[in-house]
Amino acid sequence: MTFSPSMNASPQVHGFFDSGTWTVTYVVHAESGGPCAIIDPVLDYDPKSGRTRTTSADQVIEHVRSHGLQVAWILETHAHADHLSAAPYLKAQLGGQTAIGAKITAVQKVFKGIFNLSSDFAVDGSQFDRLLADGECLPLGGLQLQALSVPGHTPACMAYRVGDAVFVGDTLFMPDVGSARCDFPGGDARSLYASVQKILSLPPQTRLFMCHDYPPEGRAVKFETTVAEQRAANIHLKDGIGEAEFVRMRTARDATLAMPVLILPAVQVNIRAGEMPPAEANGVAYLKIPLNVL
Ligand SMILES: [Fe+2]
Repeated sequence: MTFSPSMNASPQVHGFFDSGTWTVTYVVHAESGGPCAIIDPVLDYDPKSGRTRTTSADQVIEHVRSHGLQVAWILETHAHADHLSAAPYLKAQLGGQTAIGAKITAVQKVFKGIFNLSSDFAVDGSQFDRLLADGECLPLGGLQLQALSVPGHTPACMAYRVGDAVFVGDTLFMPDVGSARCDFPGGDARSLYASVQKILSLPPQTRLFMCHDYPPEGRAVKFETTVAEQRAANIHLKDGIGEAEFVRMRTARDATLAMPVLILPAVQVNIRAGEMPPAEANGVAYLKIPLNVL
């Protein structure tokens, strides 16, 4: 990788917060009427009825159309455990190519075992249009979008950098919330610490866009901060907190966390790039619940 994206460019970023899953979907672009990337789109899913809806995704579509944008890329920072991806729906409506970190293959292998998927479930990432290596750049009009490998929460996690904006995925949360959990299969607190150092070594004014916000009581939802603010105030990873202290804290905290409500539906859809499992003979697609496994 020889290209280094200009830090001077300051793309336009619009975030859509989904209050059902605490997830932020982003649309990023340089100029109106130009190409854009959509990052981490949400498909609404009701676990009580097993029904999906496209209310959240339709807001993104409305934004893209009203700004005259062309979708170049639909990116996932990782195979999310808390929401289903709307990537296939958005691709059908707006075009664009889907992409995720190349190590998604490791995540697919693990969950193919957990869900006992049939041999026709490919674990080569071929469900996505593009698999991205660390440092790889994608064109976005006059800008470049750079993929940065940031493992820890999952082994395949990526952040995406466009000019002075970085979409951090599940690494850092807002300074008063801290960091992402590292106890999912393939997660590793030591790796997350190193990934965060990589993000925090960027220039202090770099804009950081969170994948989620879980605001403490009394604070409104917020999902944009800067490297400087994180280094000064992140409760888990501010300057001066070393790897051993972080790993101790993160491991102890993870031991207290329940599984996300949607982990089982979400992961088995998201490792298929957001497609549902193939329909059975009656035309209905089913999700599986492995008992006493997670
Ligand atoms: Fe996540």
